[in-house]
Amino acid sequence: MALSSADAMEYVLTDPDRLFSNAEGWETLKVLFPGGLMLRDFDDHRAHRRLMQTAFRKPAMDAYLTMMAPALARMLRDWPLDTPFDFYAAIKELTLRVGAHVFMGLALDDPSTDALNRAFIAEVDAAVTVIQKPLPFTKRRRGVNARLMLTDHFRKMIAKRRAGDGLDFFSQMCRATDDDGKGWTDQEIVDHFNFLLMAAHDTTASALTTMVQALCEHPDWQDRLADECAAVPELTPETLDDFPLTDRVFREALRLMPPVQITPRRALRDFEWRGHAIPAGTYVSVQNALIQRDPAFWTNPDDFDPDRFSENRAEDRSHRFAWAPFGGGAHKCIGMHFSTMQVKAFCHALLPTRRIARADSGEIHWKRMPIPRPDGGLRVVLALR
Ligand code: HEM
Repeated sequence: MALSSADAMEYVLTDPDRLFSNAEGWETLKVLFPGGLMLRDFDDHRAHRRLMQTAFRKPAMDAYLTMMAPALARMLRDWPLDTPFDFYAAIKELTLRVGAHVFMGLALDDPSTDALNRAFIAEVDAAVTVIQKPLPFTKRRRGVNARLMLTDHFRKMIAKRRAGDGLDFFSQMCRATDDDGKGWTDQEIVDHFNFLLMAAHDTTASALTTMVQALCEHPDWQDRLADECAAVPELTPETLDDFPLTDRVFREALRLMPPVQITPRRALRDFEWRGHAIPAGTYVSVQNALIQRDPAFWTNPDDFDPDRFSENRAEDRSHRFAWAPFGGGAHKCIGMHFSTMQVKAFCHALLPTRRIARADSGEIHWKRMPIPRPDGGLRVVLALR
């Protein structure tokens, strides 16, 4: 059952009657990402989320930024000038490499990164496939094998990271403890980390691709962002708030093409919505993408207009769930600030010195599921500013 109003989204995601199961809503992810935070419900979910939150506290986030900003700048220096390339493929590669560095503490040129990346891509590709059984030669089977390889690799890293003082994400998760001093078991660490990498990566790559397409189509906005970024000599925790225009463009990209287009849940008991009786067991899917173009909240909803997020217009505040690309309620994206930080680091490293333009004029067709991406890529070309 599809629900496409902001009121329905608020009811389902805030779930005041504890009616809706995430684990069952997202059950297609269970084989490859068992034990992931999004696949847990109610008290069990709350306990795990509290522990994971320690890896997202300010000191940890500051450390990620300190690792991420120079890594991004270094990798972006290698992007070719005056030579067309596919931005989507390049940003996936870049976010995976920077991810392996910030999330796992691997060096940017660590030789194991390639094999891990390949396994990771196979695992994500297999997450939402038509053939769900891991039959030989199917994507699903390749995904299951990739999961085994990755989880084995993560498991072997745990003992050393628990004992060390690494600032990367994996080390933070290995050392995280609750108020009673209790941390996760090895299996829990492996399962959480495996899910987290998936949740973190394709979503941000998708959002950055939407954003860059918009910046190519609106060079005036690209110039404004370049000026804003150039005015900040160094990206540090103290300067993170100095990017209001970049923030607006990112929000607008997330509105027009939310990386998570539909949020599924399953009703555990019978319930009623606006006079309609809905039986227990019903799959409910909240249509984020439609709500974010609802003319009741947005002026000219199909237009790219980042200023709709300015203080004086604040269209996103017309309803608590008019703009909710990161979800809401107990399962609201735990990586929201992380991804915002990554987008700012990307813009800050690229835009002051490079102009980015489409390499061809063809229409871009977006494949919206499971995570939006431009079918056939997004060909761009970089030039010196
Ligand atoms: C533009 C980037 C991103 C978008 C649009 C996004 C979107 C979302 C959404 C909509 C949910 C809620 C799903 C639900 O309610 O069922 C979610 C959950 C989650 N996200 Fe993100 N995400 C992004 C980036 C990230 C990053 C960078 C991380 C990690 C560093 C991350 C980790 C997670 C986790 C662990 C959950 C599960 C939270 C829970 O169940 O308590 N996400 N994300």
